[in-house]
Amino acid sequence: MSAPASPEALRVAVFASGRGTNLQALHQAASFGELPIQIVGVFSDKADSGAIAYAESQHIAHTHLDPKSFATREDFDAALMQAAAAACPELIVCAGFMRIISEAGIRAAPCPMINIHPSLLPKYPGLHTHARALAAGDVEHGASVHRVESVLDGGRILSQAKIAVLPDDSPEQLAERVLAIEHPLLIATVRAIADGRITLHDGADTRVSWLNHRLELE
Ligand code: GRF
Repeated sequence: MSAPASPEALRVAVFASGRGTNLQALHQAASFGELPIQIVGVFSDKADSGAIAYAESQHIAHTHLDPKSFATREDFDAALMQAAAAACPELIVCAGFMRIISEAGIRAAPCPMINIHPSLLPKYPGLHTHARALAAGDVEHGASVHRVESVLDGGRILSQAKIAVLPDDSPEQLAERVLAIEHPLLIATVRAIADGRITLHDGADTRVSWLNHRLELE
């Protein structure tokens, strides 16, 4: 039985393209009363994503927008932000949203946006982070939560969690262990935003009071 969302719950929209395990982690933490948020909408560019299937199964409002129906990336992003704005979110969480959001899209966002990325940024923005960490011989790897800004995976880092790379790790094994720390990292970071321990403001006076605080989950 889910705990009812309190009126003070932070209204969160989730953008996701894939399996949706980070979405599930957030939703389950909220359902068990461990995270003061309400997921007010799930938005996806993939109709057959795990994220949409999960939202459907949990009766969470969800919207699919097909990129092929829009002439340009900017048009898609405008429609995405308009749809998200209609849910009145206070925070947008990109959790495996596999599209680059245009600058115009970022400017049109109705509220601050954060993203979870599977690397210790600023190392390895973009794709194939686990294979790249292995190829570089890194002894540790992990995940970062950062503000979404116009540089790909380059916004201000809010929190990070790391794990040791094991000698025989394959990219898949490493990805699985990183995913296992992504979930508590994302929950802890969203909780810190909901509690006001991380503050997100737009404009030149943006202040992040928990900047680079590292959640050590080893
Ligand atoms: C995660 O590794 C996330 O960091 C990355 O995409 C993956 C999404 O996983 N951006 P899931 O869809 O939440 O399971």
